[in-house]
Amino acid sequence: MLSVTPIVASEPNFEIYNELERRTLRAFFEPLGMGEKLTWIEYREHYGLAELPHAGAELLGGDHAEAYLVGYRWEGGYLPLSILFLRLKPDVKFGVISLVAPSLLSNPKLKTEIEEKVMKFFNENAEDLFHTVGWEKFEVTGMLDRPLYWREKPDQTFVSKWLLENNRPTSFLPVLPTVYPYNNPYSLELLEQIERYAKKGMKTLVLGCGSGLDASLLSLRTQTQVDAIDINPLAIANTRLIAELLGTSDRVKTWVSNGFEKISGRYDLIVFDAPLAVTENRPDDLNRFDHGGKLLKSVLGDLPKYFADASSRMYLMSRPEIDSYMPSALKSEILKAFTAGTNLGIHQIMLRPS
Ligand SMILES: C[S@@+](CC[C@H](N)C(=O)[O-])C[C@H]1O[C@@H](n2cnc3c(N)ncnc32)[C@H](O)[C@@H]1O
Repeated sequence: MLSVTPIVASEPNFEIYNELERRTLRAFFEPLGMGEKLTWIEYREHYGLAELPHAGAELLGGDHAEAYLVGYRWEGGYLPLSILFLRLKPDVKFGVISLVAPSLLSNPKLKTEIEEKVMKFFNENAEDLFHTVGWEKFEVTGMLDRPLYWREKPDQTFVSKWLLENNRPTSFLPVLPTVYPYNNPYSLELLEQIERYAKKGMKTLVLGCGSGLDASLLSLRTQTQVDAIDINPLAIANTRLIAELLGTSDRVKTWVSNGFEKISGRYDLIVFDAPLAVTENRPDDLNRFDHGGKLLKSVLGDLPKYFADASSRMYLMSRPEIDSYMPSALKSEILKAFTAGTNLGIHQIMLRPS
């Protein structure tokens, strides 16, 4: 067992970061309940550990997670290096999120120190760390990797063009841990289709907004308010961060909602890059899997109540076959079928004329 010295709340040392990294860390820490001040316990020579509040730990690790932020002492403050967490269900897993921001590594002295000390930390001290925080009673069975994508940029030409047309050059748009990264074929195929349909003035809702690139792009196109919801608070934080970086904060309105649960508006355009309905046994992953198609069924079932009028449309990325989820009040057509590991379809859904 280790002896640890509690120290009073101290500011994370944000001086060394660039502006984007600072904003990204702040966006990430806030929903974890770790705002600006953290209470560190001193750990070995160079480290500090700050316990994440339970709700924040669950966000990273799923049900019943426990998590600690590991900081590295540098010039009077701690640089957040990584988050270590355990997900205690369905099986106990060890996970790590590296938070080492690119600018830390551009400082040669710090780079060398971090590289040396982090290696040492993981080679020699990980066992102690587990004992420190009382994890020794669990059998640790694996590793969940939830990266923070510091240097992510939209990688599709049509997205860069969309941004440029609105005087927003393509820049780094980070993706926070647990959030679905925007550079993937499903989101991009959907966006490419929607680009043709989204028009100025359309009142728009993005369901399951993830990183929120879709919401910001749509707001540039519609030039009016876009509502964006997700069940994951870190996705909401990411959507706000990207909106800030693209200068669309005044138009992108975000909040946490489970499907339509916290939505009262009516929309001309509803966009949903849905997790895929699965009947087989798949891991719990809200980004990718919708067990038994429950979410799809409830969203499509309630959809007519959220359409503004007969010209309203939903654009849905899902499997090509969605008939069993469709209520009789709606009809749909496939705008594009494609394959990305599995067969997929982009559906245009509207009210069936009565
Ligand atoms: C495939 S990702 C799409 C993300 C983003 N729209 C994109 O295209 O990059 C699905 C998103 O749905 C969200 N989600 C899953 N279940 C949800 C629910 N019940 N209510 C709201 N959002 C949900 C996930 O958190 C995830 O961000």
